[in-house]
Amino acid sequence: MSKPIQTKEDAIQLLNVALEHEWAVSFEYTIHAYSMPKGKFLYQDPIMQKTTDARAQTIQIGVDEMYHSLQLGIIIKQMGGEPSFKTDKVIRYPKIMDNFKRDKETEDMVTNLYQSAEFEEGAFPKIQNMILNISYDEVRHSDQFVAMMEAMKAEGAEEALCFQADPANANKEEAGLLHEIMRLENELLHRYLYYTILFSEHQDLSQRLFKNSIDHMKHWDKNSGILVKLGDVVKIENAEKDAAGMEKSMNPMPSVYPGDDRMSALDTLIPSEEKLISIYETLIPMIPDGEIKEQLEKHLGLNREHVFTQHWLLKNAQKITGLK
Ligand SMILES: [Fe+2]
Ligand SMILES: [Fe+2]
Ligand SMILES: [Fe+2]
Repeated sequence: MSKPIQTKEDAIQLLNVALEHEWAVSFEYTIHAYSMPKGKFLYQDPIMQKTTDARAQTIQIGVDEMYHSLQLGIIIKQMGGEPSFKTDKVIRYPKIMDNFKRDKETEDMVTNLYQSAEFEEGAFPKIQNMILNISYDEVRHSDQFVAMMEAMKAEGAEEALCFQADPANANKEEAGLLHEIMRLENELLHRYLYYTILFSEHQDLSQRLFKNSIDHMKHWDKNSGILVKLGDVVKIENAEKDAAGMEKSMNPMPSVYPGDDRMSALDTLIPSEEKLISIYETLIPMIPDGEIKEQLEKHLGLNREHVFTQHWLLKNAQKITGLK
């Protein structure tokens, strides 16, 4: 940052720049991981000092970024600011190695953003401390991506490609439904996070909403594996592909969500959950008995649980006069 952080507005602005970045990377790293094979690219992790699956650790790093987003969003809200749900762009290259190169560069760029932020002495000590703490997660991530790339180079896997969607899937109803489910699971994952931030001062409500967000994250994770089994791969919303096969999206997830207080937010979640449930109910009978079907049934069951919970969160809130 060129200008020192002096006022509350300066601090909120820095935090929102960081937040938009964290949203994008939490999403981008997970997409990169879901586009590569499980258990195939192993590396020696420099921090954990053990042999680790690059795909699994990339997902773990994506989850770290989600926690960074939450920390930033909650503090912006507490300071009276409006947390931004816009994201930086998300990119996927055809080669796994190119994705890791980008991920490593991103880590270094954001480490620099955090560590070069100049705070007026004593102005926002807690925020300064939070930013420094986050920055050392980014330092660790960078070291981990470097180790992943070195292992791939040593194995001669520099040219290894991400999964590609089988063109035949474009006409398959099952694949189309699963992509629609993925889109809605991802939207709900982020919407619940948004409400977790919005209602962070009501710790009971916000923790329930956070639990649902995590469930949707898990569904997204498992469904991406199912897509691969169907000869497909997770899509990036609103992405354009260039001649070299690089996909880029400027808006990979919705940036505006309905509901700005407890009642209106709770009210809008139920129809979205019901819509998601109805697509699972259409898809499941088309899938033969076996592991995939069982997995989808688990997700459907948990989404039904969400509807039950959301229904009573709303009803119970309506019973109490003066509840904000
Ligand atoms: Fe981060
Ligand atoms: Fe990071
Ligand atoms: Fe749900």
